[in-house]
Amino acid sequence: MSLRQFISARKILRSLNFLKENVFLKWKEVADLFGLQEDVFENPLHKKLEKPVTVILIGAGHRGSIYAEYAFANPDQMKIAAVADINIKRKNNIKRRHKIPETCTFSHWQEIFNQPKFADAVIISTPDNLHTAPCLAALDAGYDVLLEKPIAPTEEECRQILKKVQSGNNIVGICHVLRYSPYFRELKEILDAGIIGNIISIQHMEPIEQVHMSHSYVRGKWRNSKTATPILLAKSSHDTDIIRWLVNSPVKDVHCFGNLKWFTNRNAPEGSTERCTDGCRVESSCPYSALQIYLRDKKRLYVFDMPEEKYKWDDFILEKLKSTDYGRCVYRMDNDQPDHLTVNMLFENGVTAAFSMEAHVSYEGRRTRIMGSKGDIVGNMESFILTDFKTRKQTSWKMKTDAHGGGDQRLVKDWLQAVAQRDKKLLSSSIDVSIESHLMAFAAERSRLNRTIEEVSI
Ligand SMILES: NC(=O)c1ccc[n+]([C@@H]2O[C@H](COP(=O)([O-])OP(=O)(O)OC[C@H]3O[C@@H](n4cnc5c(N)ncnc54)[C@H](O)[C@@H]3O)[C@@H](O)[C@H]2O)c1
Repeated sequence: MSLRQFISARKILRSLNFLKENVFLKWKEVADLFGLQEDVFENPLHKKLEKPVTVILIGAGHRGSIYAEYAFANPDQMKIAAVADINIKRKNNIKRRHKIPETCTFSHWQEIFNQPKFADAVIISTPDNLHTAPCLAALDAGYDVLLEKPIAPTEEECRQILKKVQSGNNIVGICHVLRYSPYFRELKEILDAGIIGNIISIQHMEPIEQVHMSHSYVRGKWRNSKTATPILLAKSSHDTDIIRWLVNSPVKDVHCFGNLKWFTNRNAPEGSTERCTDGCRVESSCPYSALQIYLRDKKRLYVFDMPEEKYKWDDFILEKLKSTDYGRCVYRMDNDQPDHLTVNMLFENGVTAAFSMEAHVSYEGRRTRIMGSKGDIVGNMESFILTDFKTRKQTSWKMKTDAHGGGDQRLVKDWLQAVAQRDKKLLSSSIDVSIESHLMAFAAERSRLNRTIEEVSI
């Protein structure tokens, strides 16, 4: 770095006035000046691993493949030693990509635990109702675990897993990936450094975006709270977790209102049909047309296990729209997940938080307003503005990476470090802390159904 570059970098950093007090940001200064990667300062406890952590992937679907990809990009840190999936195509994709021998591929998760332990850890990314059994089996067999959220579909099962983890030495991480996004990390550092004084209250919104809602929670795998898990757990446990993390105090009481207002039979337009492919008369004007979303726009196709040859795609998608739930009319499903809800929370330190989950919006990306005793913050996941009450000075922060900010990959990285160094403190989302978000979500769902204020006891 030239002297000129050095001076101008310092100048820019010095103009970020409120950041001066923050110890992490001094690390950041150093890293920026020397052109180091962000991760170098994000966790100075990270060490170079002597050998890659060997991992068995249980559930090679959408999420599992994302986590496994970390091994492909970082073979010095992680090796996918085996894979289990009942879907042969997905299993074989992972087998090929990670050069896994045939003897280390399994159809059912149980087959893994029929033999002696043969890797360091497992990633469990099976459907919601298939987390508890493989997780308990993995713990019994002595594996460290990275478990997709929700931990389990019931409070009882969550507590059962926690109890087992607490009685042993296994490292268990939960995939609360928002904790690893640069936006929330930056907010957390600012709050912990006391830059806006004491937190007084938080408003937090989770805009799901209407097509995403229709795809996952009306037509898709999480549309019914009884066969999957309540949306408060399936989707909003990320938010209860983030709010709890930022407030830095256990929650005391929660209260929730919410219902399914739009995606119901009574709103089915005249002329609509069971499937969008059945000659629906309103298909061309419907914002939820499956023909538009999947066939014409080619969006969210990862659920279909697409053929590699692109020329086959249109026929393939059309066949899927005729035979799977993704082609069904959004007003004629067996969905019961609320499309709007609000949760009020009171924390032990007196902070209040108001959370709302909204499906009828055209955008994604959490919205956050944090009110403090010395200043406030207004953010939208890509940027935020901090205002100091005394000086009225405003400081802005903007994200340099993608919207999720590589949260998935950072989570895997921290988990591998925790496993390799046998230190769960290296994990931001260990099960001991993540469980609270689930207890908050279960309490909020009870409140919504029973019209009560629910106490949360850990
Ligand atoms: N952390 C997040 O942000 C986030 C986001 C989306 C989904 N999720 C959660 O991740 C989990 C997986 O979701 P997904 O979207 O990847 O689902 P998916 O359907 O794409 O993947 C699940 C995989 O598990 C496999 N499977 C089913 N039964 C099995 C068995 N007996 N043995 C081995 N494999 C089996 C399925 O064939 C499938 O490939 C869910 O619990 C979901 O709620 C988390």
